[in-house]
Amino acid sequence: MSEQPLDRYAVIGNPVGHSKSPTIHAAFAEQTVQAMTYEALLAPLDGFKDVVSSFFQNGGKGLNITVPFKLEAWQMAERRTERAELAGAVNTLWRSDEGCLWGDTTDGVGMVTDITSNHGITITGKRVLILGAGGAVRGVLQPLLEQNPDRVVIANRTLSKAETLADLFRSFGTIEASSFETLLGEFDLVINGTSASLQGDLPPIPEGVISRDSRVYDMMYSAEKTAFMQWAESQGVALAVDGLGMLVEQAAESFAIWRGVRPETGPVIRQVRAAMVAA
Ligand SMILES: NC(=O)c1ccc[n+]([C@@H]2O[C@H](COP(=O)([O-])OP(=O)(O)OC[C@H]3O[C@@H](n4cnc5c(N)ncnc54)[C@H](OP(=O)(O)O)[C@@H]3O)[C@@H](O)[C@H]2O)c1
Repeated sequence: MSEQPLDRYAVIGNPVGHSKSPTIHAAFAEQTVQAMTYEALLAPLDGFKDVVSSFFQNGGKGLNITVPFKLEAWQMAERRTERAELAGAVNTLWRSDEGCLWGDTTDGVGMVTDITSNHGITITGKRVLILGAGGAVRGVLQPLLEQNPDRVVIANRTLSKAETLADLFRSFGTIEASSFETLLGEFDLVINGTSASLQGDLPPIPEGVISRDSRVYDMMYSAEKTAFMQWAESQGVALAVDGLGMLVEQAAESFAIWRGVRPETGPVIRQVRAAMVAA
């Protein structure tokens, strides 16, 4: 009896060697007993579309998209989910049975699941401050607003970008834009979606924005506490967490789209965290 070929999945990026997605999806596949492979594919900066087309022509089943191709993936998708349409980015591609190339973004729902389910932080009815107005923040605003927070304030160094996002998502809830300097009042949940932590920098947050009771979430993750988490803890905040769970949850959402089964994420978050700390 001939064996069935394994279904092929991959993450595409440039660079992509650092990606934790192959480890995460291998763990999901083992846990849910799926006959599949998942690899990392390096696409040339000017060759994304060719790599994607050839992957699907050769029978590939689904792709995750990482930096810097999420916008190109959005453009390439023939159909997009509503949340991907609004996010202006696609991190998950697959072909439907009719042969249509679908695009979705799972980052936002991944972050919300991590915040609410893994960390037990309530968003509903809370005052939420989100720092930054780049691709990551745009991708999480709709799922965040769907939790019905009291309000969301987007603060960004370049105010006009925050204003554009507030306008784009106004129909989903109470949302406003602010510069860092003019931020007023205390917030229950502060989410750092700037890339400042990548350089070990802090966004310029004025005093009085957080209290001991605030919850702090950094979308960035690292083996050590991020600069933003360290700053929050120095202000007396009891719960400051990083975005590793967001990474695993967005992967679980993609996996569920492709395979129709949702893996348990807790053990995989712990596995990836342990490997990161040991490295
Ligand atoms: N955990 C996950 O799964 C996950 C997924 C996606 C992204 N992320 C993280 O999210 C972060 C943002 O990614 P992105 O794709 O949105 O980047 P991006 O599109 O380049 O946007 C960067 C944002 O950071 C702001 N910024 C950069 N340096 C700053 C500084 N020193 N002080 C204040 N603001 C600063 C920028 O402000 P200006 O507009 O004024 O330039 C902009 O709003 C990164 O740390 C990334 O690792 C995590």
